[in-house]
Amino acid sequence: MRIDVVSVFPEYFAPLDLSLIARARQRDLLSLHVHDLRKYTHDVHRTVDDAPCGGGAGMIMKPEPWGEALDDITAGQQKPHLLVPSPAGVPFTQEMAESLAAEPWLMFACGRYEGMDQRILDEAATTMRVTEVSLGDYVLFGGEVAVLAIIEATTRLLPGVLGNADSLREESHNNGLLEAPAYTKPAVWRDREVPDVLLSGHHARIRRWRRDQALLRTAQRRPDLLAHIPEDDLDRSDREVLRGVGVEPGARGMAE
Ligand code: ADE
Repeated sequence: MRIDVVSVFPEYFAPLDLSLIARARQRDLLSLHVHDLRKYTHDVHRTVDDAPCGGGAGMIMKPEPWGEALDDITAGQQKPHLLVPSPAGVPFTQEMAESLAAEPWLMFACGRYEGMDQRILDEAATTMRVTEVSLGDYVLFGGEVAVLAIIEATTRLLPGVLGNADSLREESHNNGLLEAPAYTKPAVWRDREVPDVLLSGHHARIRRWRRDQALLRTAQRRPDLLAHIPEDDLDRSDREVLRGVGVEPGARGMAE
């Protein structure tokens, strides 16, 4: 996979030289390039923003440097999927990470200040797919932190990036449920015991316990997720566990 990132703070992306992402880059599973938007300015102040037309607070990113940057980086036949982090975007989810992980080329345009001139996105959308994407219902200073999160969530799904592919299968959001709590040795620490079942060696019982815990946690912390689980994915034990905490499986509006 190829990833290009354009930002006025390329230094923000130093963490991409660490750990598993650095290893993926060394092994050519990932080709990642960070570009400084100011390289595409031509005035002494290297200006990338200006006051909003129509008035209002803050500054808006100017179209000219972005137009040049996108033309330069995407010159050629093939075009990337352009992702633009914004609190006004569609929510970023594990499902979106999975779909992005299947794409050959992603490009991220990091906005700062009060956002980007809309014409940048409208123009880009004439030659490539453009998606505005939000990390969550809160406002960051700019897109850089969101892009780091999206890159990490996406590239860890690329074949060969994670040493143990099983860990992908059992984690939160993988099957629509939050993950069960996890423990390691010692079996007793500060008088706190690892649940017996996890030391029993009884794989079926361990699987059942983890499933129960995942259901209980999800019902407690993220009841909205339960509504998206297909009815057929719930077995008899699942239904009993949910009924035990007052959730009627399959009921309309199970999440509410
Ligand atoms: N830029 C500013 N806030 C953001 C958010 N919540 N998600 C993505 N990009 C952002």
